[in-house]
Amino acid sequence: MNEDSILIIGAKGQLGLALQAQYPNAVAVDVDELDITDPESVMNYDWSNTKIVLNAAAFTNVDAAETQSGREAAWKVNATAVGYLVKAAINHDLTFVHISTDYVFDGTTPEHSENEPFSPLSVYGQSKSAGDIAVSLLPKYYILRTSWVIGEGKNFVRTMLDLEKKGICPTIVSDQVGRLTFTSELVRAIDHLLTTEPAAGVYNVSNDGDIKSWADITRYIFNETGAKLEVHDTTTPEYYKDKEGIAPRPLNSALLLNKIHETGFVSHNWTDDLKLYIQKENVK
Ligand SMILES: NC(=O)c1ccc[n+]([C@@H]2O[C@H](COP(=O)([O-])OP(=O)(O)OC[C@H]3O[C@@H](n4cnc5c(N)ncnc54)[C@H](OP(=O)(O)O)[C@@H]3O)[C@@H](O)[C@H]2O)c1
Repeated sequence: MNEDSILIIGAKGQLGLALQAQYPNAVAVDVDELDITDPESVMNYDWSNTKIVLNAAAFTNVDAAETQSGREAAWKVNATAVGYLVKAAINHDLTFVHISTDYVFDGTTPEHSENEPFSPLSVYGQSKSAGDIAVSLLPKYYILRTSWVIGEGKNFVRTMLDLEKKGICPTIVSDQVGRLTFTSELVRAIDHLLTTEPAAGVYNVSNDGDIKSWADITRYIFNETGAKLEVHDTTTPEYYKDKEGIAPRPLNSALLLNKIHETGFVSHNWTDDLKLYIQKENVK
């Protein structure tokens, strides 16, 4: 695989930054260089040196997507723009790597397989489902379906580390369960798929390990940092009861990992990657 022929889209996001670190010689663009919602920009982009597209761009603010303007923006970026990119991939014979989410499901199944039918609860989940459908029409594609992404950006672990610095004992939902996915894990899986070239399709990718609630993960974080802060459990309906415009969230986010394991990929446990992540955050 020639790194120069890789185009990273959404390069300034959590995953985009991790992909740039993995592929320093790849071309990396964010909305200023290539706004994927502009069909002319996508059509007129010089694709002649591109063989592989890594699409890390998305509208990821799940609550904002429930507003009138957010609904439109989420659909533009997560669905319509993906259609423009799919068209470019067909015209220029590109391999297309795309990222999906557990939010395409209603979360009633304890662990999601790649074959589970779409059942999104939220606008974000609906718009991402539409994007997945568009990508799945391509001959050469990998959709990595993931959950609870942690990297360089605003994320749950950073929020908990901030609360710790302020000495705040947080109240956290204990009825949403899943596994964290560090961007390092996603990047390893993308590199594995591009290198080993298994059949095109959807591949679930999260870190492996015990399925835990956000409240339990917070306890794990505080235990790791030595914070003497109590974590109070709550339920999703209780937590959001006085808040407006909150997107419905799947309660079960865990993804079955058998399919990617069968291709020879060995997952890292989320507790190991969390330890490393906390160590790095503490030296910043
Ligand atoms: N975060 C999670 O917990 C999670 C969970 C499951 C799946 N995912 C999926 O994983 C992927 C990566 O997520 P992430 O957490 O890295 O997202 P992120 O940090 O929000 O990054 C998304 C990037 O896309 C860019 N972007 C937005 N609109 C664009 C446009 N019109 N043209 C070009 N770029 C645009 C954003 O730029 P601006 O910041 O300027 O808007 C941002 O740099 C996404 O597909 C997401 O749906 C995320």
